[in-house]
Amino acid sequence: MAIFYYEDKRIFKLDTSDSSYVIQVDKDGFLLHLYYGAKIPDVNLPKFANRCRYASFSATTPEADSEYFTGFTPDTWPFEIGCNGCADMRKASLQIRNADGNAATDVRYVSHKIYAGKPGIPGMPALFANEDGDCATLEIVTLDKVTGAEVTLVYTVFEKLSAMTRGLIVKNTSDKPFDLERVLSFCMDMNSDAYDLISLYGRHMREREFARRPLAHGTQGVYSRRGSSSHSQNPFIALISKGGNEEYGEAFGFNLVYSGNFSAIVDVDYNNSSRVMMGINPDDFCWTLGAGETFYTPEAVLVYSANGLGDMSRTFHRLYNRHLVRGEWAHKKRPLLVNNWEGTGMDFDDEKLYAIAEWAKETGLEMFVMDDGWFGKRDDDTNSLGDWVVNEKKLKGGIGALISRVKALGLKFGIWYEPEMISPDSDIYRAHPDWCIHVPGRDRSLGRHQCVMDMTRADVRDYLFNIMSEVLAHNDIDYLKWDFNRNISEAGSALLPPERQKEFYHRYVLGTYELLDRITKAYPHLLLEGCSGGGGRFDPGMLYYTPQIWCSDNTDALSRLDIQFGTSLCYPASTQGAHVSASPRTGYETKRNVAMWGTFGYELDPAKISEEARAEIKAQIADYHKYYDTIHYGDLYRLICPWDDPYKAAWEFVNEEKTQALFTMATKLYTERRNLFIRLKGLDPEKQYRLTKTNEVFSGALLMNAGLSLWDYPIGDGESFMLCFEAV
Ligand code: GLA
Repeated sequence: MAIFYYEDKRIFKLDTSDSSYVIQVDKDGFLLHLYYGAKIPDVNLPKFANRCRYASFSATTPEADSEYFTGFTPDTWPFEIGCNGCADMRKASLQIRNADGNAATDVRYVSHKIYAGKPGIPGMPALFANEDGDCATLEIVTLDKVTGAEVTLVYTVFEKLSAMTRGLIVKNTSDKPFDLERVLSFCMDMNSDAYDLISLYGRHMREREFARRPLAHGTQGVYSRRGSSSHSQNPFIALISKGGNEEYGEAFGFNLVYSGNFSAIVDVDYNNSSRVMMGINPDDFCWTLGAGETFYTPEAVLVYSANGLGDMSRTFHRLYNRHLVRGEWAHKKRPLLVNNWEGTGMDFDDEKLYAIAEWAKETGLEMFVMDDGWFGKRDDDTNSLGDWVVNEKKLKGGIGALISRVKALGLKFGIWYEPEMISPDSDIYRAHPDWCIHVPGRDRSLGRHQCVMDMTRADVRDYLFNIMSEVLAHNDIDYLKWDFNRNISEAGSALLPPERQKEFYHRYVLGTYELLDRITKAYPHLLLEGCSGGGGRFDPGMLYYTPQIWCSDNTDALSRLDIQFGTSLCYPASTQGAHVSASPRTGYETKRNVAMWGTFGYELDPAKISEEARAEIKAQIADYHKYYDTIHYGDLYRLICPWDDPYKAAWEFVNEEKTQALFTMATKLYTERRNLFIRLKGLDPEKQYRLTKTNEVFSGALLMNAGLSLWDYPIGDGESFMLCFEAV
């Protein structure tokens, strides 16, 4: 087991493959954070808690008042939970307003247990242990004596990876209700502020751009208040040592397994210590916990690397491939698909779709996906969401007829839904105007002409499950694209009492998870692809249900470089949907080379592209199969990042056995041709590798140290090339 308890010191040490995390229970029962970083063999960290003698005007506990100048005030100590209002003056991670009306909160150690495996979280996504028992869990039970809040801190370590998770369980053991006003999943006080903060911001068509800034005194961080994890900020942050980069420096990555309003904060105090916190956004949130009730937070994922961002990302990738993505499709080869959206929009009928499917078959693709526009009277985006009944004017003979024809070609069939949305112009809205999110007396703001279904309601979820089942249960469907095309405004539910309206956003997320859970359980063969105006809800919570997520509606290969590089900070290639489209800026070679970094496919109408383009596509497909495992399950090395170089980008995948490496470089903007050497990474120095294009053989050591000269490869605007190295 990788979790140790040193009884004499009341210290817990949680070891992963490369990191240690150390917690101490102090004499008063406070949970102190002593250390997180590279693996250490011992726990002799006596001075780590008592790190500061200077408390600026802070209060302390009555017992410790006499020691005030020699050590103790909760305001300077490093905690595992930042409690509100009792002498720790920093931003709190836990704030409970009790029946007396005050929000003073103070939890102290009661007991703990250590066991093999990892618990799930009722009603919520969570990472899981695999059969071989590669996880160990520590639960520390604490109690706030005044409120009766029993707060359990749950830590799981992944013994073979440098990764852990952390979440909270709060139980009301008193006989009166109390309000959880802040209940963040994770809190850690680091001893230093000498880090840069990395985050991923964006918007529709420009998701997960890389942002880096030095920590400064005060609060910094990212959040969502949009009802979904959102395009604007991903629920991911990293701290990296100053000057650190892809290969060097300590990198701490934090990701929240949650798809709703989140907050990720780094608060640097007057002592230059940094409190890192992550969890449900406390803005517009409050959860009333009745006597005997329990609340579960989502879990945060922590990854540590002593070797820069690249290594941190590879750990996230392995972790998510092994411990997050589930179901039949987790490790099954994903079908090579064509989706009609960018080709036809909603202007199609069964013949047009069938023609695309016929082309797909001829070209060697494996699945046809019918996107938006197949239901209700939907010819544009002003209507019909919620009326999930096939439009027989477009699909003559019903959906079954089209599916049979596509299946007869030997292709799989996929379908598009946007279950959480409702168009005001729909039969279901006319029948149930209170089923959409709204508040009394205010306009219902629209987004893309649509409102959002009130997923907190069981009747709404039942309706959706049943109407989707009308199609899913009676047809041979292999894939479902689950879209979500606006964010939430006027948040409120017609069924929640006024004092519980602040529970709305979290209940919305729980409702969506419940429907996803029912669909995945009822139709276990379905491959789900998440989507939200492209990659607007690309988070580990969704990945638990949908093994892949459409990365962006921007399919221009050069724009995709930034988007895919950013996404790769914590999400593996096997999860990011990437398609070749007819977008005009680059040729098909570059489109293919970029889209291969993901769950590959095509998104076009073959009738609208040239004969040559069709021939080129046909020739591209073999490579996809050849490199599938290396890309999906291998190690990614970001060799030239778009955030470091505005002109070009380069990346490399190496398979687990180090017998195949795939190097790709793409040029955004031509600069004058100059010497260009690239040193490959992650190869076996002892092995010999054949560059398949030229049949030249090089040692791994040479390729990684001397590197390759690339002066004679295509580096013009929008050009790219891919080189494969096979061990001989
Ligand atoms: C969103 C998705 C697209 C497509 C359209 C359909 O924008 O990201 O891929 O499915 O909706 O309306």
